[in-house]
Amino acid sequence: MTQDEAKWAVARRAVEFVEEGMAVGLGTGTTATKFIHALGERVKEGLKIRCVASSDASRDLGLSLGMDVVSLEELPELDVYIDGADEVCAGAGAGLALIKGGGGALLREKIVASAAKKFIVVVDSTKVVPVLGRFPLPVEVVKMALPLVEKKLGDLGLHPKLRHHADGSLYLTDENNYILDCACGQIADPEVTAAEIRGIVGVVEHGLFLGMASVALVAGDEGVTEMLP
Ligand code: 5RP
Repeated sequence: MTQDEAKWAVARRAVEFVEEGMAVGLGTGTTATKFIHALGERVKEGLKIRCVASSDASRDLGLSLGMDVVSLEELPELDVYIDGADEVCAGAGAGLALIKGGGGALLREKIVASAAKKFIVVVDSTKVVPVLGRFPLPVEVVKMALPLVEKKLGDLGLHPKLRHHADGSLYLTDENNYILDCACGQIADPEVTAAEIRGIVGVVEHGLFLGMASVALVAGDEGVTEMLP
């Protein structure tokens, strides 16, 4: 199975968790995009749901597929949130720990995830790691605070690098903030790292999602399996 096929397999499986009348959080990224397309097919067939999106891109996609996508203000409590991840770790004591934000939507993703009763992570098996940290940890930063935060993350040994687009222009989130990607290597204690980063004034959010995911659906050659916290 190619990575693309795995993403489709897990996206289609995730749609089975959505039931008539549910309030559904839409994730962001290539896997979440496949999920939104698959869910859109069900909506076209008559499934009645309401959705809140974790990014402008996912909102626009949902609307273009005829889905009822509203603001979190209109729909503050969600039955389920379905989104991808950059890394998933089920290490001892960590529950299901994630790194998210490779697609730059970590802030809204964390907000929407925290509004949901159930957070289903959809990944292909390449995302499952024994220890978090292979993927650079994204940290969203208020523009004005960039030099301060960059220095403090550096002092913590997290090796921050300002995110740019491929054309060299600066990357800005949907909330108009910068992202520092931290090539920190293995994160031995994610709770400690999360607390250290959160303690820096000017940090809006970081991509460690700890104790939030209810289940991870993982697609690989053996099909789609479930990882529980
Ligand atoms: C976006 C995210 C994505 O869920 C994460 O980057 C995984 O993306 P993909 O499904 O494209 O691999 O956190 O901010």
